[in-house]
Amino acid sequence: MIKIILLLSVAYLLGSIPNGIWIGKLFFHVDIRRHGSKNIGATNTLRVLGPVAGTIVMLLDIGKGWLATWLPMQFGIHSWYPLIFGVMAVLGHTFSIFDHFKGGKAVATSAGMLMAYNFGFFLIAAGTAFICVFITSMMSLGSILGFIIIFLVSLTTSDTALQMVALVLTSFTLYRHRNNIKKILNGTENILPFGLYYWY
Ligand code: G3P
Repeated sequence: MIKIILLLSVAYLLGSIPNGIWIGKLFFHVDIRRHGSKNIGATNTLRVLGPVAGTIVMLLDIGKGWLATWLPMQFGIHSWYPLIFGVMAVLGHTFSIFDHFKGGKAVATSAGMLMAYNFGFFLIAAGTAFICVFITSMMSLGSILGFIIIFLVSLTTSDTALQMVALVLTSFTLYRHRNNIKKILNGTENILPFGLYYWY
């Protein structure tokens, strides 16, 4: 029991690491929370600080979700429990102890959790998001569709835990992207300097 509580705390602390804020402040003297969409994730880091910083934040945010989910498996915790640790990392990213219990939308952290739990599902989510972003140039739409596809695909499996977590994460993603959804609907969503919509 103590092992589980410790690993849950580690997962929350890992998730809490605000890579976007810390990299922005450390290397650029910029508080990412005051610029662009004001989100602390990789998309806004890319938007404000450029592709190198954006890629590093994306990899670190995926990495913390992956580590939080992978670590318990190394301590003999298998079955569907790894997902609980991934969800703790997602909660950490969203309600970070290092950011006054505020945080980001946890897309990359959730992707890291999927990567550790079921690499095939990670590829499906990432592929869906990539195709959507390539067509629309909107990361938010790609993130939302990635989660919806994962939920739909999870329904074709017998993995009840994955279905439950996919439902929770998809609902959570829709809620965290509510302002993005309004902007998509009224045609004012931020676009990335990449993809068919941007190029044409
Ligand atoms: O991962 C977050 C992304 O889906 C949207 O980010 O900064 O455009 O609101 P942003």
